[in-house]
This record gives sequence, C-alpha cells and structure tokens, in this order.
Amino acid sequence: MKKWMVVVASLCLFAMAVQAQKYVPTPENLESRKNFAESRFGVFLHWGLYSMFAQGEWYMNNDSVDAREYAKAMNAFYPHRFDAQAWVSAIKAAGARYICFTTRHHEGFSMWDTQYSDYNIMNTPYGQDIVRQLADECHRQGIDLHLYYSHIDWTREDYPAGRTGRGTKRLDRADWPAYYRFMNNQLTELLTNYGKIGAIWFDGWWDHDVDSVPFDWELDEQYRLIHRLQPACLVGNNHHQVPFEGEDIQIFERDVPGENKAGLSGQEISVLPLETCQTMNYSWGYRVTDHYYKSTKELIQLLVRTAGKGANLLLNVGPQPDGTLPEAALTRLAEMGQWLDRYGESIYATVAGGYRDGDRIITTRNGNTLYVHLLDTGIDRVSMPLSQKVKRVEVLGEGTRIDYKYKKGVLDFGVEIPDDCIDYVVKVTLK
Ligand code: GLC
Repeated sequence: MKKWMVVVASLCLFAMAVQAQKYVPTPENLESRKNFAESRFGVFLHWGLYSMFAQGEWYMNNDSVDAREYAKAMNAFYPHRFDAQAWVSAIKAAGARYICFTTRHHEGFSMWDTQYSDYNIMNTPYGQDIVRQLADECHRQGIDLHLYYSHIDWTREDYPAGRTGRGTKRLDRADWPAYYRFMNNQLTELLTNYGKIGAIWFDGWWDHDVDSVPFDWELDEQYRLIHRLQPACLVGNNHHQVPFEGEDIQIFERDVPGENKAGLSGQEISVLPLETCQTMNYSWGYRVTDHYYKSTKELIQLLVRTAGKGANLLLNVGPQPDGTLPEAALTRLAEMGQWLDRYGESIYATVAGGYRDGDRIITTRNGNTLYVHLLDTGIDRVSMPLSQKVKRVEVLGEGTRIDYKYKKGVLDFGVEIPDDCIDYVVKVTLK
C-alpha cells in the first residue's frame, strides 16, 4: 500500500471513531441523576395561553382553531393573581422536590422574555416574564426547576408540520434549518438567563411518524448544546421510546414503568433514572369542565406504586387563567405533604424493594431498611419472600413493634389496618 493510502485510511478510521463517539455524562450530570432519582416526587405545571380557553392544551389542534385567531388571546392574557411564591410554597409543602414548567407548548406561545419570537408573555398586557419569576423563586426556596419544551409548533410557519396541528390554517413554509436554529436559540436563552436548570423535558417527537416518513430531529446536536451550556442539566424526552443517545432520564406518560394502561408505555425500561408523569384530574392544561380529580388516597397510592418501580412521579396541575392553582389541586397537594411529612422516609431516596403483590403490596428499600406498603385495608397477614435476615419489624410513623416469623427465606407477620388507612407502612430492619 502506498503511504498516502495509509494516511487516507487512518483518517477515515479516525473520522468514523469520532462519529461513533458515545455520550459520556459528566460527573456533574451523574450527580444530578442521583439527586433526581432520590427526589421521587415532582409537580408538573401546564400553563400557557391555552389556559385562557380553558379546554386543555390541545385545544387549538382539537378544534382546528385558526392560529391567528387563537393568538388574539394574547391581548387579553393578564394573570393578575399569579404569585410565584405562593405556587412554589404550596408545591414545596406538598413534599415535591422539583417543578417542571411548560415554557412553550405545542401552541407555540413562549412564557418568557424571548428575543426569538414576538409571540411571548412580554407582549401581553401582563408583560412580565413568568419563567423568570418562577426560576428566581425556585432558587430562593431551594427546589429544582425543570423546563418542558415542545418540539412541535402549531403556529410557526417554519415548523415542518407533522401529523398534528393540521387545521390551524397557518401557511406551510416549512424551513427546518430555520426552525431548528430558533429552538436552539430559545434553549440557549433558557439555559443562560435563568440560573441553574435541573432538566429540559422535550415533547412532540412523535409528531413525525418516523416509520413512514423519515424525519431527523437532529437531537444529538441539540442535546450536546444543552450539556455544553449546563453539564448538570438532565435531558429527557417524552417520545415513548427507549431512551436515545444523549438522554439522562427515561420518561413514561400516564403509566408506571412496566405497565401500559394508557397505551403510550410499551417501551422497555432502561437503566436511566425513571419518571412517570400523570394528571391529577384528566387534563394537563386547565379544562373548565374537568372536575374529575383523583382522590388524595389514589394520588398517594400512585406515588407509592411509582416508587415501588424505582421511578419518580411527576404529578400535573393545570393553573387557571388568572394565575392561581385550582383549589382542588391545592387541597390534594397539602394532604400529600402531610402524608409525606410522616411517611416520606419510605419514599425519598429509596429504590424498588424487589417484592410486590399486584397493587396491594408494594415494597421500597433504602439500604438495610425495607418498607412494606400495604395498600389494601383488607390485608391481615403478610407472608413474603425475603433473602436477608430480619432484625426488627415495626409500624412506620408509630414505632409499634410487630411480632414476626422469619423462616426459610419467608417473612411472616400479621397486621390490623384501620379502614381509613391510605398506606399501612411496615418498616423492616434487616441484618
Ligand atoms: C402529551 C401531550 C401534551 C402533554 C404531555 C405531558 O405528549 O402532547 O399535551 O404536555 O403529554 O406528558
């Protein structure tokens, strides 16, 4: 082989190696993943112009609303009762360890002072940056802020329309390079001007059916941008697939990992920290007719079942047009907080406990402590496999000892659960 041929061949090999370079999370990023996984409970906030129509955040698509007519709502957006301090305090008191806020949903309206689109909060009569107020307050109160960012835009003409938002009568002037630049500019603003951001939470990948028409979202470069701007910032994408290269968490929509009742969660569970997002009623964005709130008991049991899968629960609240959180949501948040004050050690910083019996018995674990959550008041005896020897069994929150037998790898004890009990937590200290 000639010398120049050897040089060309090595250059090619080098280029291939560079291309195949895997994403290696930084130590800061790994630290954030750990904190994220230990936090177990976050509150999702879907708030945008859509709250004005009070029909949920898909209203523009669902009713095929002309995007220009829809945008007129901007001239009346005046959430005069918005109080970042009140929101963050209520959420912290609920025991949530982070907040995920919709900075720009599929409708395309930006909730912060962005220089890359006029369709933003500063051009409403309210005229104040919501993301700024929330970010400042989160930092002040010491709770992480995650930012939801939609890949879809039903208003912009340069967004290459996918399968949704077809009825909004915007002109089709698809220009992916321009739209991609726009998104990255906005992400740069969010990750530069608002202090520490815990995560960017993407949504909308599924708008382009990758199987029938190949579409390249160029996520690699976008993820690299995020990690370059804030190495500790986690990247998550609600694409309903196994995580892609460059992502730091795996998201499940409306189902705990491993279950697929809502039809969006058939994908395999990865080794990344997990998060399940779920609504408190049925809707993400405020919907005036949706009074179908889950009870506090259902919500706490959902949190327990999620923790039992080793995942976080990101529980949604849809703020109202005036800027307040619905009363029904506030009550439930407060009650969850009271419960977590007492039983939080069986949720925070735990991992999946290994054993479960359907939705009746769930286990979580922290080191040598195993928490057996009895979610069915009909249970009077527990007999479960356990490979480690037992030192003590007690009722969490009361400290009352429980008599038990441990023989041939089976732990056996009796319980008397009060009828109004949400979760009877038995604390098992292992040897
Ligand atoms: C869906 C919806 C969206 C919502 C999100 C939350 O993907 O498109 O409206 O924000 O789920 O999980």
